[in-house]
Amino acid sequence: MHGPRPLEGTVGMAGAKNSALKLMAASLMVPGEVVLERAPQITDVDLMADVLRRLGAGVERDGDVLTIDSSGELLEEAPYELVRKMRASIQVLGPLLARLGRARVSMPGGDAIGSRPIDLHLDGLERMGVKFSSQHGYVEGVVDRLKGTRVLLEFPSVGATENLLMAAVTAEGTTVIENAAREPEIQDLAAFFQACGARISGAGTPTIEIEGVDGLSPTRHRIISDRIEAGTFAIGAAASRGDVTIEGIEPLHIELPLQKLEEAGAEVTRSDSSVRVRMSARPRSIDLVTLPYPGFPTDLQPMMMVMLAQAGGSSILTENVFESRFLFVDELNRMGSHIRVEGHHAVIRGVERLSSAPVQVPDIRAGAALVLGGICAEGVTEVYDSGHIDRGYEDFVEKLQALGADIEVRA
Ligand code: EPU
Repeated sequence: MHGPRPLEGTVGMAGAKNSALKLMAASLMVPGEVVLERAPQITDVDLMADVLRRLGAGVERDGDVLTIDSSGELLEEAPYELVRKMRASIQVLGPLLARLGRARVSMPGGDAIGSRPIDLHLDGLERMGVKFSSQHGYVEGVVDRLKGTRVLLEFPSVGATENLLMAAVTAEGTTVIENAAREPEIQDLAAFFQACGARISGAGTPTIEIEGVDGLSPTRHRIISDRIEAGTFAIGAAASRGDVTIEGIEPLHIELPLQKLEEAGAEVTRSDSSVRVRMSARPRSIDLVTLPYPGFPTDLQPMMMVMLAQAGGSSILTENVFESRFLFVDELNRMGSHIRVEGHHAVIRGVERLSSAPVQVPDIRAGAALVLGGICAEGVTEVYDSGHIDRGYEDFVEKLQALGADIEVRA
């Protein structure tokens, strides 16, 4: 891509990746046809569709509508060759245990953002009566009937909260998840289950209470919009000193990122379902700490790094959620930024302009950030392994082109 170019115009958002993946897994628990509207057209959704098919469900896509039919007999095994492509496959563990009383799921390995263990998922499920064993890289769980209990999570893990919520929905008795993750995607999952007949209260707060029901009935559900995609474009607008209106979103879901952009000098106009972000001058330096929701999302940390790399002054960015999420900093420094990483802190000395360089994408979010870097940088930037970005962003390049970016994809 050729930079620098300000991003300007209006852009619409897709359904949330991290909601769609869990709703797809949850559909395994509903015998019958579940319809998910606003399913993003991204590789991770295709991968989850492959996992569901392998488990015996039917998955059809018509535009952004997915129909999932889990009325047939399901298999219990999610194999390595699928799980290794996408860690979120671990979210079938809860639904399989709920539906079949057994599950055999390949242990997800680490990835470019950290080691990502699943101990909290397993500890919680054990408390609900599951007996786990692990061999040959697989975790195997068996249970006669899941039993409601109290689970206090050591950390408000998104994935653990979701697996426990899924397991609890049809368990015997009441489950209380304390120190639960509060992400909007968890509220979306709870809303889906409620529409299927589940009894859940407190989703979106640190204490979720689930009263087990005997069965679930199929529903049609519209997935919430992708707050991380929205945040990416909001930060892109500010970093490129542009003017972008992002439509089809819930502005409250990105309130903290918007406040941080204001602190850095952006003008932000919020309405019911859209937000406009304008930045006319060089961003000001700010400090930032990533935390579970409603804190600043770790998934938007790399994009903020790109903006702050061009700020007037020095910023300190602290990453509290994933241990290795600074790995892409070396790539960004190849574009002329001055960033020094010390443990989970990054000290960013802003430069006037980034300069183009060939860079390599390690993961979805760093990939999006490096593309934003290329849009802001002087000269022609080549981004390699950009396929990672398609895992999480629908039509990323097309949307950027429509906002005036000079960008093309080469095979
Ligand atoms: N953790 C544990 N033990 C566990 C589970 C998590 O130690 O059993 C640790 C992790 O290693 C990590 C931290 O807790 O350091 C947070 O992990 P969490 O479980 O909250 O995250 P996740 O469910 O694996 C989801 C999103 C991520 C997003 C995080 C945090 C999906 C599919 N993934 O991951 O999204 O960064 O929550 O908000 O929902 C992305 O979209 O690019 C992405 C990585």
